[in-house]
Amino acid sequence: MAAGGARRARRLLVPALALLLLLQSARPAKALENGLALTPPMGWLHWERFLCQTDCSQDPRRCISEKLFMQMADLMVSEGWRDVGYQYLCIDDCWMAPTRDMQGRLQPDPKRFPSGMAKLADYVHSKGLKLGIYADVGNKTCAGFPGSYGYYELDAETFASWGVDLLKFDGCHSDTVDLLVGGYKTMSRALNKTGRSIVYSCEWPLYQKSLQKPNYTEIKQYCNYWRNFDDIYDAWSSVRNTLDWTSLHQDNLTSIAGPGGWNDPDMLVIGNFGLSWDQQITQMALWAMMAAPLLMSNDLRHISPASKALLQNKEVIAINQDPLGKQGYRITKDHNGFELWERPLSGGAYAIAIVNRQEIGGPQAYRFFLAFLGNGLACNPACSIQQILPTSRNLGLHNWISFLKVFVNPTGTILLKTVLIEEKHSLGIL
Ligand SMILES: *[C@@H]1O[C@H](CO)[C@@H](O)[C@H](O)[C@H]1NC(C)=O
Ligand SMILES: *[C@@H]1O[C@H](CO)[C@@H](O)[C@H](O)[C@H]1NC(C)=O
Ligand SMILES: *[C@@H]1O[C@H](CO)[C@@H](O)[C@H](O)[C@H]1NC(C)=O
Ligand SMILES: *[C@@H]1O[C@H](CO)[C@@H](O)[C@H](O)[C@H]1NC(C)=O
Repeated sequence: MAAGGARRARRLLVPALALLLLLQSARPAKALENGLALTPPMGWLHWERFLCQTDCSQDPRRCISEKLFMQMADLMVSEGWRDVGYQYLCIDDCWMAPTRDMQGRLQPDPKRFPSGMAKLADYVHSKGLKLGIYADVGNKTCAGFPGSYGYYELDAETFASWGVDLLKFDGCHSDTVDLLVGGYKTMSRALNKTGRSIVYSCEWPLYQKSLQKPNYTEIKQYCNYWRNFDDIYDAWSSVRNTLDWTSLHQDNLTSIAGPGGWNDPDMLVIGNFGLSWDQQITQMALWAMMAAPLLMSNDLRHISPASKALLQNKEVIAINQDPLGKQGYRITKDHNGFELWERPLSGGAYAIAIVNRQEIGGPQAYRFFLAFLGNGLACNPACSIQQILPTSRNLGLHNWISFLKVFVNPTGTILLKTVLIEEKHSLGIL
């Protein structure tokens, strides 16, 4: 095509892409100044898989105990999880004793954590990992253990004294906006005052949104990442609802995410019972697109080699951890149930995800115009395209006015990466 024709085609695309331009030009909000979570945190969190089993005589291998976390720490190192980036080993609800100690401090259940939290933190640190813990902004945790209301500073000091590196702060039993918002802010300041670097994970917007509209600019000044939507379950319907909610609100969510502050669509449930292979691919690909924290909740003692390879896929992790820190968004959803997502990466590259949302039939073809990607810039004048999921393969060089056709399984995803080719190198293919 002649250069004039290309320019005309480019002009025609401008109105259609104006919204996306707006989306991408928004200035990221100021983040919490603790120097942490410059890329989305990666690790393991016990909740979805292990819930609240506190009876170790009933289920010794799966109860919430120091033994469970020490086993996971060992496996995170020996099975290569740490080396691909999964660094935070995180405890969720149900670690506490039913009451505070004589000094009013939180204490772990003495039967299940007989060595104490400082010892567990030492063990985790000796493996080159970091320890995450859980507490709640209200009077009680979601499972009914002591809440931090009235004890924010003491609890922050306690966690720091144990050597904790991350706090997940839940929002149960906080029925007024003042308590919720005030509590999340006070805990953020209290963590800062300890002088210890502690990643701060909030559920502030999730609990606030039933009462009033969350102010994300403000939330990002206090939290390193925050939950917006329901708890994830080991089911496609749950992954699907999380994706739908996120794309529905993407105009407000993507502009806020960036180094130091991330939207958290909750845990990766890959390697458990509920997702088909294609659905596991979709979760991994889309969590990378959304610049989501990658917190697995699975049993590292029992995980299939395929799920493990997917979770440890370095090319997907590189997309998730891209230093530019822009959250991806859905560009289109067509009447056949195909969704096209993109995420701007550093160096002019883009991650592209094509999701087949049909829950019937076999692999379906999806054909799309490369000029639609990245406001017309992703492949302009040309790009090389790498397929990353479901399998790694090179799709070669393409110019910006060409189409690409892929076949996608029902509820599955094709994840691609485009790398811009400079004009002087692209002459041969234009
Ligand atoms: C506490 O906050 C200040 C800025 O408000 C920051 O410079 C400092 O690094 C923070 N300290 C910790 C431990 O997060
Ligand atoms: C927590 O307990 C205090 C003291 O009993 C009470 O004033 C406050 O309203 C309670 N907060 C919630 C969220 O229940
Ligand atoms: C949201 O919070 C920011 C930062 O605190 C503030 O400047 C802004 O006015 C708030 N927006 C609304 C609508 O309250
Ligand atoms: C996004 O934020 C704007 C401005 O605060 C608000 O009017 C709008 O309802 C929000 N949109 C969604 C989908 O949440």
